[in-house]
Amino acid sequence: AGAWDFRSAANTLEALPPPEGIEIALAGRSNVGKSSLINALTNRNALARTSHTPGRTQELIFFTGKTPLTLVDMPGYGYAAVSDKKVKAWTRLIHDYLRGRVNLARVFVLIDARHGLKTTDDAVLKTLDQAAVVYQIVLTKADEVKAAELERRVAETKEKISRRPAAFPELIVTSSREGTGMDVLRSTIAQILAE
Ligand code: GTP
Ligand code: MG
Repeated sequence: AGAWDFRSAANTLEALPPPEGIEIALAGRSNVGKSSLINALTNRNALARTSHTPGRTQELIFFTGKTPLTLVDMPGYGYAAVSDKKVKAWTRLIHDYLRGRVNLARVFVLIDARHGLKTTDDAVLKTLDQAAVVYQIVLTKADEVKAAELERRVAETKEKISRRPAAFPELIVTSSREGTGMDVLRSTIAQILAE
């Protein structure tokens, strides 16, 4: 914990920092809570910039700590309150990064617990499956749904990813607002670092 810092930002493939150590990236639709999860995970209020308006994170943002781990906040895909041109550029960058990053150890694909997997998520899952990059679904905003609905969403999501080759079978349920699931996320990350 502690000592997390902004390292760099990139809005093109050429601007990526050289791959060092191990990277874990957070991907997901706009507004799903990627930046908020980085803050909750690192115990920082404003390390990553968040907003209620979709389209806040507009570059790949690299955060480094004391460990060999780099956390990567990503622009969202799907709807964003910005131009189509920007969304297209981000989507391309996201796919290029996910496909080609040599030190990418896992991708947490964030899914809003209220909405579940959407068709816009499929393209990213497909890219990760084809590149054989292991990804794990993280349900976000669990505080917004009742326990029974959450249970249904977990079962339904597990079923949907069950035949996807690079999907990690276990889901992680989180709420950045309430701190739910941060212990599980941290131990998952510790395991990845130990591999
Ligand atoms: P982009 O950068 O635009 O793609 O969004 P993002 O995925 O980084 O989402 P961000 O962290 O900026 O959060 C979007 C909105 O969701 C903000 O209004 C957050 O306060 C809210 N939010 C994030 N996490 C939670 C959560 O666990 N529970 C609830 N209720 N709201 C959350
Ligand atoms: Mg963001």
